[in-house]
Amino acid sequence: MTYRIALLPGDGVGGDVLEAGKRVLDAVGFEAEYEHGDIGWEFWKSEGNPLPERTIELLKATDCALFGAITSKPKDEAADELVPELRGKGLVYSSPIVGLRQRFNLHTNLRPCKAYEGNPLNLRDDIDLVVFRENTEGLYAGIEWHPVPDDVRQAMSSHPKMKRFDGVAGDDLAISTRVFSRQGCRAILRDAFEYAKQHAYPTVTVVEKPNVIRETSGLMVREARAMVKEYPGIELWETNIDAMCMWLVKNPQNYGVLVSSNMFGDILSDLAAQIVGGLGFACAGNIGDDYAVFEPTHGSAPKYVGQNKVNPIATIRSAKMMLDYLGEPDKAAKIETAVARVIGEKKVRTYDMGGAATTTDMAEAIADAVKEA
Ligand code: IPM
Ligand code: MG
Repeated sequence: MTYRIALLPGDGVGGDVLEAGKRVLDAVGFEAEYEHGDIGWEFWKSEGNPLPERTIELLKATDCALFGAITSKPKDEAADELVPELRGKGLVYSSPIVGLRQRFNLHTNLRPCKAYEGNPLNLRDDIDLVVFRENTEGLYAGIEWHPVPDDVRQAMSSHPKMKRFDGVAGDDLAISTRVFSRQGCRAILRDAFEYAKQHAYPTVTVVEKPNVIRETSGLMVREARAMVKEYPGIELWETNIDAMCMWLVKNPQNYGVLVSSNMFGDILSDLAAQIVGGLGFACAGNIGDDYAVFEPTHGSAPKYVGQNKVNPIATIRSAKMMLDYLGEPDKAAKIETAVARVIGEKKVRTYDMGGAATTTDMAEAIADAVKEA
């Protein structure tokens, strides 16, 4: 079967790492037609939209997408970089990857963080965690105001705790909301529990802060308590986000599946990535009911652009996740074996691992290992 895969290089080193991922996909005999999609900073500057509508249409005609990296800048800096014709029109930059997650309802961000034997960057060698991050709601849903309009203010004034802001002018107030739906909580929890069951993880840890953020974190934790009843043999652990950051450094080997909301999951997954080698190893799948986008979690690394330097393992592992999603477990397993072998052999190492291998060297070494896997 020939798949149709969208390739979305985006910004900076995105193109280099996607090239590396594709090299390994070719080596494993994955048959696909690749379609290039426009996305990223260049299109923000020239068109005022980093996620053009034509790209959305292109994605709809594919099985799933592999995404490289994106440059994001704060609102004012972004507006200053628009071509002169587009300036002053009130265009507001928003991250196209966040946009894609929302447009395609890619509710689950799956981020496996595993220590490969032989990786000099491991905090410990026995870490095997998977972070499930809710991907479309919460603080990243983009429902925010500055200045705060009167009607919003009025609606909020029904809450007694708004009183202390009564004297603050609308222009001096910024509000970002944290909206959770029961359905959203249940979707991410379901995926986390199902994954734990399928991969024999004994625990699911829900990571929130219900002692302070009572309503939203509270909803997530209550739903987790209800759902664990459907999974005999899996224990539910409840840990606050701040404590979890400490435990992940102290005893990461004790944890299996972690599940959290959008922002906490974002933070948690960077920390989880660092204890198994850093963002050069961190792969991700943004998975919805009908579509998925696979991406390394690192950014566009502007300082390494054009140097063929960054570690492509995050992207190669994302490509492996894509094969799992497409129902190609044998090919996926070969990539996994090849990655483990190359890291274990300790010969080919990119700069982050203390070596001098290029992005292409690493991709080639894994592609060669795939052929023997
Ligand atoms: C990630 C990134 C993104 C996010 C940025 C680039 C918008 O940090 O995928 O973790 O916050 O989701
Ligand atoms: Mg992040």
